[in-house]
Amino acid sequence: MRLACSECGAPAPDDTLFCAACDGLLAFALDAAAFDAAALRRTFSQRRLSNDPLDTSGVWRFRELLPDIAPEHVVTLRENALPLYDTSTGGAYADATRAAYLHLGMNPTASFKDAGMTVAISHAKAKGARVAVCASTGNTAAAMAAYCARAGIVALVLVPAVGISPAKVAQTLDYGATVAAIDGDFDRALEVVRSLDPAQVAVVNSINPYRIEGQKCAAFALLQARDWRAPDWIVLPGGNLGNTSAFGKGFREALALGLIDRLPRMAVVQASGAAPFAALFRDGGELRPVHAQTTATAIKIGAPASWRKALAEVRATGGTVLHVSDDAIGDARAVIGRDGIGCEPASAASLAGLRVLRERGTIARDDDVVLVLTGHVLKDTAYATAYHESAAPFANRIHRAPTDAALRDLIDGVTAAHV
Ligand code: F0G
Repeated sequence: MRLACSECGAPAPDDTLFCAACDGLLAFALDAAAFDAAALRRTFSQRRLSNDPLDTSGVWRFRELLPDIAPEHVVTLRENALPLYDTSTGGAYADATRAAYLHLGMNPTASFKDAGMTVAISHAKAKGARVAVCASTGNTAAAMAAYCARAGIVALVLVPAVGISPAKVAQTLDYGATVAAIDGDFDRALEVVRSLDPAQVAVVNSINPYRIEGQKCAAFALLQARDWRAPDWIVLPGGNLGNTSAFGKGFREALALGLIDRLPRMAVVQASGAAPFAALFRDGGELRPVHAQTTATAIKIGAPASWRKALAEVRATGGTVLHVSDDAIGDARAVIGRDGIGCEPASAASLAGLRVLRERGTIARDDDVVLVLTGHVLKDTAYATAYHESAAPFANRIHRAPTDAALRDLIDGVTAAHV
């Protein structure tokens, strides 16, 4: 695969992050004409019966469509073995009859970041990198730390000191990373990381094109699980917008390869207090960064790095971008829990967004919709606890230290109501 500027198309040398000519982000170009769709489908399908670690990974199973990395350098934790779940409570909540959850939180470190990290860290290992660095709201940090641990690469993460989930920091420390909790937000952390020399340290934020290659495989895994039938819509949360660019690239390549016959439309959902991409989609022009504020801390990002790529992808699919309030995200998250699935707050922007798009009539009731859940429910238990202790509409009732008599009444009451 060829590395080139995603904006001006100029070829770029490996291990640079920005175009020397125009400063644009880089991307790999796939020569789709070199492949035969039926043969690819057959290969991918045979690999699902194999126990080879590369075949069981829902990233490396598609290795023909990835940059070339020798198998001995591949660091995999069997990422993207993805379940697609139907939605009963969530579907009813959004008034959508054919919505399904694609739960990327069921990945090894419990978020979608693993799919990108397996490629970025395998590449870093192949290049002999000693140190990897990222800026993160928590999930990238945890994923990088885990893959670095297995690759024998030193991991250093920059996270905001305030306002990220402690569970993610604990996980990152467990995997052996050094954590710099900075006095600033994600955007500030990314600014620092962008200024580093990629020849010295592996920078593995989604500005790294290897990350995008890994994450695009979620689109392939989804399509394979649906026997290569594209859904009408795919709805996903947007923060730094690497994932939007990755899904878009995956779908575009699947179409160019002849694996699918049309593109699903992409709907990107931001939190209202961190919605510069939604504003850009509405108003046009250049992205105007904001000072981000949202309780969905994973997507608390005011200056998304991949907005140009993401905009091109959303437009190519005839998609849309919207924002939803923190309260709407909170309620949607609790509803997803009632489906016996659960997710972290940022992920629930997808269901909250679907509800709005149904109300507006942008998405029809019986459209075939895939809601992308990006992180596991246990990623942010502090948020879940606070929600359930509040008076929010879907909060559970908690009975604290009931007396023996009160406990007996509770049991009798619940039993009488339901038996
Ligand atoms: N959902 C979750 C759970 C996330 O952790 C993120 C991003 C997103 C959605 C948004 O994805 O940035 O590709 O648009 N988390 C990054 C991190 C920023 O550091 O873990 P995006």
